Amino acid sequence: MKNIINRLAENHMLSRDEFQELLTNITEEEQEYLAQKARDVSHQIYGHDVYTRGLIEFTNYCKNDCYYCGIRRSNQNASRYRLTEEDILLCCKTGYELGFRTFVLQGGEDSYFTDDRLEEVVRSIKKEYPDCAITLSLGERSYDSYKRLFDAGADRYLLRHETANEEHYGKLHPSEMSLKKRKQCLIHLKNIGYQVGCGFMVGSPEQTVDNLIDDLEFIKELEPHMVGIGPFIPHKDTPFADQIQGTLEMTLRLLSIIRLIHPHVLLPATTALGTIHPLGREKGILAGANVVMPNLSPTDVRKKYMLYDNKICTGDEAAECRMCLGRRMESIGYQLVVDRGDYRI
Ligand code: 5AD
Repeated sequence: MKNIINRLAENHMLSRDEFQELLTNITEEEQEYLAQKARDVSHQIYGHDVYTRGLIEFTNYCKNDCYYCGIRRSNQNASRYRLTEEDILLCCKTGYELGFRTFVLQGGEDSYFTDDRLEEVVRSIKKEYPDCAITLSLGERSYDSYKRLFDAGADRYLLRHETANEEHYGKLHPSEMSLKKRKQCLIHLKNIGYQVGCGFMVGSPEQTVDNLIDDLEFIKELEPHMVGIGPFIPHKDTPFADQIQGTLEMTLRLLSIIRLIHPHVLLPATTALGTIHPLGREKGILAGANVVMPNLSPTDVRKKYMLYDNKICTGDEAAECRMCLGRRMESIGYQLVVDRGDYRI
């Protein structure tokens, strides 16, 4: 096993058989060895700095009906909200004062947010905070829409591919959605010039090790600037309410592997990881992640942006989250930095 890990660290890739072995037969001790290798790589490129992104969940209306997601359109129990431009700018103000230099505008696919409205929001943020990066995470849109938002000043775009396997994609989404479309969007975003992030859930229903290898190969091929992964966690009001959640160990293993196959990638230790284990985010950083994304959404809407059950930090103020994460990172020898945190070549 150590030979496989060494080969992965040297060649930044493995065969499917080797990935299979690494993902299924690794011992605890070997996983620590893998994490060590991944940490070495992230230290070489990013040192002990951890980048922060202020997450602003600005709408939980969504036209999609993904089987795993708590804000899917057919969840009648979701209490829907939208932030106004003024609300969003207030979040940015608080965030800026707390040292955030990237704002992530994330929301469901909400037709209220037309290109005109979004352009206006992006322009206002850029005007007020020219030294900040704007990341959008708004799902699938047309090439022209992505282009307009890029021209208005957006820098980055997160669009998880969710699974790189066609058949598995069909088990997670209703038939009006397709992996082909998702991949096309990611290619459009890249061509336009965004820093692009893809990603997937670990342990989503019916996911096989073979599917995970497809994800790794897809990442290798796409060469995204960011990869967001976190454990699948069931949400009580979805068709997947009774499915089991993804594991900490598998998520950490994949974080380390992704760092090693794509060394420069910006890799968050996600909120979902922090939700399944009290030290999940710390463990994520120690497995090779280098980004955290605390929540900047107003406290009165936080509980409404429930993608999965028991999401952490939904009762805290932005300042508390920032300080709590700062302490957590210091406890493992890292520091949060005041920086846009761009991809380093
Ligand atoms: N568990 C974990 N992650 C989820 N997401 C949506 N629902 C869940 C869930 N139940 C993730 C998806 C999506 C991102 C915004 O949140 O991967 O792309």
